Amino acid sequence: MRLLRRHYGPLKLAMVGVVFVIFVFIMHKDVGSGSKDDPWLKNIVERKDQVLDMMMGAVNNIRDSMPKLQINAPMQQEEPEQKVNSCLPGYYTPAELKSFMERPPQDPNSPGADGKAFKKDKWTPEETKRKDDGFTKHCFNAYASDQISLHRSLGPDSRPPECIEQKFKRCPPLPTTSVIIVFHNEAWSTLLRTVYSVLHTSPAILLKEVILVDDASVDDFEHIGSYDDQMEIWGGENVEMSFRVWQCGGQLEIIPCSVVGHVFRTKSPHTFPKGTQVITRNQVRLAEVWMDNYKEIYYRRNQQAAKMVRERNYGDISPRLKLKEDLKCKNFSWYLQNIYPEMFIPDLSPTYYGAIKNEGSQSCLDVGESNHGGKPLIMYPCHGMGGNQYFEYSTQKELRHNIGKQLCLISKYGPGQVELKECQYKGKGTSVPGNEEWEFTKERLLKNIGSNLCLTSRGEHPSTIECNPGDIHQRWGFS
Ligand SMILES: *[C@@H]1O[C@H](CO)[C@@H](O)[C@H](O)[C@H]1NC(C)=O
Repeated sequence: MRLLRRHYGPLKLAMVGVVFVIFVFIMHKDVGSGSKDDPWLKNIVERKDQVLDMMMGAVNNIRDSMPKLQINAPMQQEEPEQKVNSCLPGYYTPAELKSFMERPPQDPNSPGADGKAFKKDKWTPEETKRKDDGFTKHCFNAYASDQISLHRSLGPDSRPPECIEQKFKRCPPLPTTSVIIVFHNEAWSTLLRTVYSVLHTSPAILLKEVILVDDASVDDFEHIGSYDDQMEIWGGENVEMSFRVWQCGGQLEIIPCSVVGHVFRTKSPHTFPKGTQVITRNQVRLAEVWMDNYKEIYYRRNQQAAKMVRERNYGDISPRLKLKEDLKCKNFSWYLQNIYPEMFIPDLSPTYYGAIKNEGSQSCLDVGESNHGGKPLIMYPCHGMGGNQYFEYSTQKELRHNIGKQLCLISKYGPGQVELKECQYKGKGTSVPGNEEWEFTKERLLKNIGSNLCLTSRGEHPSTIECNPGDIHQRWGFS
């Protein structure tokens, strides 16, 4: 079940959103200030990288350009909440948080009961046809879904213990919630089971409404810009929405204790006639509208995007810029400072960047296949595509390979291989250790400050050796 989807677009196609997340749009007035200090939340926030990694891994194909999402909401702004004096002290009891609807008892042998897989040995021709039709239309076994109870329980509670055990103070009262489920061409049984699941699991006193939207006609959603209607199919619209909601005064929260299922389909119901161009184009649109100068950080890492920008080949963004102005949205520096202050921001203008070409071998320094640190580097024909050959010579004199993670080229003390390691410099309060600091000399040697040795392309792998300005295998240049 997708919780959000594109609105217009030529093909009216659905998007795949963040699957483990319930998106809740909460305008400031609805946000309670209650539970910020709760230890369970702190605990989860501390583990958020783990949680997020799991989420990110499952979600998307734009991992590298996707920012990690925010968990802790910013401090309440403006209008101090009126003190509510009518609530009782102590914590809500389970009885008070009783769900809207209780699950009826289930036959443990019924199809899919308690989260078991749907199994069926004998199929009549009629049933087989219905199954095949389901696959054709929905790309999953809609016939199986139709056989499973709408009240299906998933068996034992799969949430982490600290989620199950958490308690909520009665004062100030928890805010009520509207659950908005946006759908398109959805199989009815999965959609309805989602609705029942909300009714079976949400405390009745907190559930204001369940809104099912086909065609995104909710007024508030239109007001805050719904979807960028010139983005195609999917890719980037979830990030666009996140930036937009935060920058324009809303909040988009991840509820780590919320568990949402996702039906993976046998194939994408969408075709990408223009290949990855579509995703890049969407990302360029969002970068152009929301990221100000920081968009350059992305363009340096994505040649296809940079080319698209040079050729102004990403469509008209003026309606989005107007929306940004009409809603008086804040800029991207504000977003980084206030919403995601813990993020390390790569140099806006690194001293040098691109591929590092060796004069002797006429090849480029390359991190090799899936090198997330620890493996030796290689010399490889220069391909000009960035990727494994992308480096930045930072203003702190590090050699950063920072397409996804912030990895630094380190030299071990004593002659030997060089390798990538997570950069020690992470902004304020940290510094660059000598073995991560490289002087780019007048003779174009890359001299490591810690070991006093120079980078050479000789040997099986790039390594460090006594500096010799006469050796062309020690001479490098950014291109
Ligand atoms: C971004 O907005 C802040 C106020 O929130 C302002 O101080 C700053 O100058 C703005 N930056 C740019 C680059 O416009």
